[in-house]
Amino acid sequence: MGTVLAVTEAPPMPRPAGVRAVLAITSNKGGVGKTSLATNLAIYLRALREDLPVALVGLDDQRVIDRMFALRPLRPGEGNLKHGWAERCLDRVLRIGEYGVHFVPSPPDVSLLKARAEDPLTLRRILERTTWNGVFVLDTKSDLEALTRNALHAADRVLIPVADWASLEEAGRSFALLERARLPLDRARVVFTLVDRRSRTGGTDGAEPLLRRLEEEVRRRGWPRCRTTISRSPRVESLSSGTSKPLSVLHHARGTAVHRELHDLAGELLRDFEALATREPDRGGAAELWGHRLGAPEPGGYAAAGDRPGPDQAAGRR
Ligand SMILES: Nc1ncnc2c1ncn2[C@@H]1O[C@H](COP(=O)(O)OP(=O)(O)OP(=O)(O)O)[C@@H](O)[C@H]1O
Ligand SMILES: [Mg+2]
Repeated sequence: MGTVLAVTEAPPMPRPAGVRAVLAITSNKGGVGKTSLATNLAIYLRALREDLPVALVGLDDQRVIDRMFALRPLRPGEGNLKHGWAERCLDRVLRIGEYGVHFVPSPPDVSLLKARAEDPLTLRRILERTTWNGVFVLDTKSDLEALTRNALHAADRVLIPVADWASLEEAGRSFALLERARLPLDRARVVFTLVDRRSRTGGTDGAEPLLRRLEEEVRRRGWPRCRTTISRSPRVESLSSGTSKPLSVLHHARGTAVHRELHDLAGELLRDFEALATREPDRGGAAELWGHRLGAPEPGGYAAAGDRPGPDQAAGRR
């Protein structure tokens, strides 16, 4: 595709009235940490800025958000995302949950919602009509279908987790989707997650840390990225694998590197939201806060790289 990352000239999208920021987490690759990132970031954002309401909306059918945040079992017939979708407003279905984070209960069947999401601007319009004032965090399914496209259109910022070469290739598909939808590519940020810092990849000149190779490839493709990387931690993994109600990193894994990293990533996001709120153009100051200056990719880089093999894959090294 060879597309240059021509993003800096795109005019800022008007943001929904009453909503200070919408953050979506997307990746076509399953199990890269989208839901862990969405749920924990919501908690850290809330903890860092107690005056800033934060709400989670899950566009997946796994119900992790309900299990993690519901203060009591949800009764059948109580308002959920399906009702909010039909009413074109989330005010009635938003509820306060654990850790002071709001959430919208999941619908019993996400496929019904998907059928009503053909228009990719549906969720954006719903958020425009929602008067609740705070940050929305949208967790998506590992696909690039109708609900995920709605999330991309609604979001001021999109985080794309990258854990390995396969998810890096899938990140290319998300950037390509943004490009096809004529959405500004600088809306999205790669965030390295679940990277085992001890992992090394082979090469003729000896093993090199996987994380460094992934970082180099993202830079080569000219993709914006977050400064903070979220490490892989067995302690963090146990927070969701050992219980039906996943536990938060902030309250149950304070001693881990992931705790410090989520704190730092939430700080990055808050500074960026503040820059958005003052409507500064997303370059210079704001882009610098994200640890990335926007511009043309390095020679040979490309934005929409979904169909191209990464160097490891091309060389058959994984
Ligand atoms: N920093 C981390 N360290 C170790 N394990 C983690 C970390 N973050 C998430 N996990 C674990 O990785 C697995 C996948 O995480 P998660 O469910 O958040 O990914 P996902 O991208 O939302 O997956 P899906 O595509 O199925 O929705 C989970 O078992 C989770 O506990
Ligand atoms: Mg998930």
